[in-house]
Amino acid sequence: MTPRTIPVDVFDLVVFGATGDLAKRKLLPALFHRDVQGQIPVDARIIGSSRRAMTRDAFRAFALAAIEAHVAPEHRQQVLCQRFIERLDYVAAEPSQEQGWSELEKSLRPEQDRIRVYYLAVGPDLFGPICERLGQHNLVTPNSRVVVEKPLGKNGASAKALNEQIGRIFPEPSIYRIDHYLGKETVQNLMALRFANALFEPIWNAAHIDHVQITVAETLGVEGRAGYYDTSGALRDMVQNHMLQLLCLVAMEPPTSIDADAVRDEKLKILQSLKPITAENIANHTVRGQYRAGASMGGAVNGYLEELGSDTSKTETYVALKAEIGSWRWNGVPFYMRSGKRLASRMSEIVVQFKPIPHSVFDASAGAISSNRLIIRLQPDEGVKLTLMIKDPGPGGMRLRSVPLDMSFADAFGVRNPDAYERLLMDVVRGNQTLFMRRDEVTAAWKWIDPILEYWKESPELPKPYTSGTWGPSASVALIERDGRTWHEGDD
Ligand code: BG6
Repeated sequence: MTPRTIPVDVFDLVVFGATGDLAKRKLLPALFHRDVQGQIPVDARIIGSSRRAMTRDAFRAFALAAIEAHVAPEHRQQVLCQRFIERLDYVAAEPSQEQGWSELEKSLRPEQDRIRVYYLAVGPDLFGPICERLGQHNLVTPNSRVVVEKPLGKNGASAKALNEQIGRIFPEPSIYRIDHYLGKETVQNLMALRFANALFEPIWNAAHIDHVQITVAETLGVEGRAGYYDTSGALRDMVQNHMLQLLCLVAMEPPTSIDADAVRDEKLKILQSLKPITAENIANHTVRGQYRAGASMGGAVNGYLEELGSDTSKTETYVALKAEIGSWRWNGVPFYMRSGKRLASRMSEIVVQFKPIPHSVFDASAGAISSNRLIIRLQPDEGVKLTLMIKDPGPGGMRLRSVPLDMSFADAFGVRNPDAYERLLMDVVRGNQTLFMRRDEVTAAWKWIDPILEYWKESPELPKPYTSGTWGPSASVALIERDGRTWHEGDD
């Protein structure tokens, strides 16, 4: 099956931080794929920018190396690579100085009416200075958009300051706050599943759902990012953004349309109805862990502290939480979330566990009746699975068993699954903000996270150690088992 590609209008894209890790691993490969698919108009321009003095040819060589490293060989024929890198230009610009900005102005000036995208693939300390320079040099036209990456602050107060800095130059409808989880194919399928099928919505509530689990498990450690990561931790790095966004998509009311504000209004209501975690319940509602040396991906690996090069750190590399939503629909339905680095396998999924049937008409000889479960797999092998009870085939009485209706998107559609950044970048050009976080969502998410961070900071307790290659600290098992439930594991 050939994926459908809708061309976008001609645009100029300036990537600040163009020689950094994000550009190398994600942005350049994503743009390359879109170019191969014929989605990028021939006149569109991609201008890399960073503080580093570099010729256009050197930047093109950097981009080519990035594509060779991050695009599978079968997708990168030489002629396509060549065509793509010839689109690339480079302008060195220093956010704290005048140097480079007039050159950027000169290169963009001839196409005043074009869609302009400024992608800030830089640390948050540079968001304000870059936006100011863009303003000073009249580079912000009515058709301009700015894209910012997380971390959007370290808490509610710093997020507010960042949003204000960006908001002084760009109006809210031109600000695209990326959460790459929202660009994942399965995450959007969650909306299709819920709102394009009559089947689920009538039972999508506390009367029929026992609980929801959201897991984002990684096998990698913090790698070369220990410096950044130690100022962040799993709660800020994964929960404040990605996992709360997933929770919102599972829990939100049906929006009136798929319009950006209609969807974001509903997500906001969920964030605002999260019950606060308090000093009284924090011990039972949260667990934080930190990995120690162990085995991962077939080899021995160091612990977090060794990677950090320090004897001590209170930074969590694992977090498990029990969240509750104060609403009619979700009263009494816990949303368990867990995320960690150096876990037993790379696996992200949402599990919706339905309640048991109210009454069984079968004899004990039929066997136990498992409750239905809907599993939405984000990675690896994106897909959806619904467990159903059926009769064991053959004569010999009524014996029941649980079987999965299992759909892998790769098997079903046989296409390369586009990376989240491919879709999100094209959505920015199209001016579609549905999959980007609005300022009030970010504020509401921090409002729920801030008290947890505060309690943890004040607490003398250190994160619970767990061995690399396991499923995290045993306290996270206790968190869910105290409620008579278990984390979903394996293929059941
Ligand atoms: C990023 C986090 O936002 O998401 C990383 O900063 C994390 O720490 C990554 O590894 C996970 O993304 P994905 O798409 O690989 O699940």
